[in-house]
Amino acid sequence: MGATTAQKIVENGLADVVILDVREGMAQGKALDILESGPLLGFDTRIHGSGNYETIEGSSVVVVTAGFSRKPGMTRDDLLHKNGEIMIEVSRKIRQHAPDCVAIMVTNPMDLMAYMLWKVTGFPRERVIGMGGALDSSRFAYFISEETNTSVSNIQTMVMGGHGDNMVPLLEFSTIAGVSLKKVLDPATLDRLVQRTRDGGGEIVRLMKDSSAYFAPAAAIYSMIESILHDRHRIIPSSVYLEGEYGVKGVFSGVPVRIGNMGLEEVVRLPLSEDEEKSFHKSTESIRQGIETIERLFPDLGRP
Ligand code: 2OP
Repeated sequence: MGATTAQKIVENGLADVVILDVREGMAQGKALDILESGPLLGFDTRIHGSGNYETIEGSSVVVVTAGFSRKPGMTRDDLLHKNGEIMIEVSRKIRQHAPDCVAIMVTNPMDLMAYMLWKVTGFPRERVIGMGGALDSSRFAYFISEETNTSVSNIQTMVMGGHGDNMVPLLEFSTIAGVSLKKVLDPATLDRLVQRTRDGGGEIVRLMKDSSAYFAPAAAIYSMIESILHDRHRIIPSSVYLEGEYGVKGVFSGVPVRIGNMGLEEVVRLPLSEDEEKSFHKSTESIRQGIETIERLFPDLGRP
């Protein structure tokens, strides 16, 4: 996922990139392979592969994809223990070598890993953003486009809540050419597409078996990085530390946020229906339980 994101960044000339992998030679090999495509594709942006955290010095954005991915039959939460240990180390290194960056968390269980990174680095909440909603919304939009035989460019979707089985695709705020989904699709079809979106990551894992998705996730990460580096102020559903927005405090969960140069600029408030609010709170409750597990497994993460 990291390498595919880096490839998109350099191919589009967005920025120079460092890819880092603790397995010696892996990142160097991938970087060289990508660079060797430069003459064919015509890019002069640079990518540097490294096994050493010092090379991220001065980075304005750091994307964390380190850790284990799901195997068939696993939930994202099953990765908490193993990836949590990795995240402590990664977060300390980011704090040490890129203390001014905006960090984008991708590793699963993403909302919980974002919480750990936020705690260990001590970064303000503006600079720790989890990638989930962008991917889930894109999957939902693709399924709608397929179902209705409509261009993806006509479809707007919004998915809130945790990046897990309880995510909340918002039907009122999802449209085809500006028309609410509910007016275009019957309830049974909508239910089916919502369920497929919730299971979107799992569907790919079941197909690929030894890997989870990476093309669409990389595109989702790219859209966030681009909004940061070009200060575009795009509204992208992402996981951020909530301080009372939508009635939730003290957890990372997916909400629509405006993203610019400094990272999170604003949590955008949508007037949710009662049902949507209930589903959102159910989703954040399961994240809260995950945080309790984190506090038990990894006491002393740094921040009071
Ligand atoms: C997914 O949904 C990897 O969590 C990511 O595919």
